[in-house]
Amino acid sequence: MAEQEIQKIGDKLLSMRGFVFPVMNKDILTPQDMDSLQTFQIRDDDVYVVTFPKSGTVWTQRIIALLHEDEFPESVNQTSIDIMPWLEFPSYGTDHTTRRSPRLFTSHLPEHLVPRGLQGKGKIIYVTRNPKDIMVSYFHFSHYMKILERSETYNEVMEKFLSGRMVGGCWFDHIKGWYTNKDKYNILFLSYEEMIRDLRGAVVKICEFLGKNVSDELIDSVVEKTSFNNMKKDPKANYEFLPDDVIDSGKGAFLRKGTQE
Ligand code: A3P
Repeated sequence: MAEQEIQKIGDKLLSMRGFVFPVMNKDILTPQDMDSLQTFQIRDDDVYVVTFPKSGTVWTQRIIALLHEDEFPESVNQTSIDIMPWLEFPSYGTDHTTRRSPRLFTSHLPEHLVPRGLQGKGKIIYVTRNPKDIMVSYFHFSHYMKILERSETYNEVMEKFLSGRMVGGCWFDHIKGWYTNKDKYNILFLSYEEMIRDLRGAVVKICEFLGKNVSDELIDSVVEKTSFNNMKKDPKANYEFLPDDVIDSGKGAFLRKGTQE
């Protein structure tokens, strides 16, 4: 039975085929959805930001969205979820087949679960982050997001991290899967740490990878708008639009500290 492929991890998470996601999403990621994802039609100019959670997903989304603002002027008033919807949760309401190109996507999926058509088509930007910082970030995130089981101590979050009992699944498998299969894809690896060290350099790298010939002024403006301080002031980047049963706004913010420890 397909349902037997889904295991519960505590009260708030589910695991399926090596991917861990919130129970809240159980109706929008079924084994059938996972199967159909395998044959999802990729376009040459699709762009995918792929990360393990807490590695700089929203930051990279924001950079890419700003680089496409001339093509999608409506994106100015949209959230990152509208501009770069989740690949794994299509039934959030987006029909990807009718979207105009270039389609921008986000995903936390491990390599073995993404559409097979991505091998040879589309562009992937995979962002990595130092695992210790992922753990610290997830610790605070689990206090802020009511849909996650909170960790009371750093040891507790480390145990979850080491055993893959957190959103995304096992970090080691995620990195290994994407890195060892990198030659099958058109993929740019970026690290959170290099973005911290040299954001302008990272934005230029992204432009070159996407084949976007943009002015120095646009690059300067993207760098300015995606600084930690500017994004922290942006209610959309902070997911403040999420309802009270999902976030506990008194317990922190999505953009928390934004540093490399
Ligand atoms: P911290 O919790 O360490 O502050 P994700 O989007 O994958 O969930 O990652 C969230 C992490 O990225 C958070 O880390 C958040 O503060 C950080 N982040 C988001 N925007 C950033 C920016 N503009 N500059 C630096 N860090 C940023």
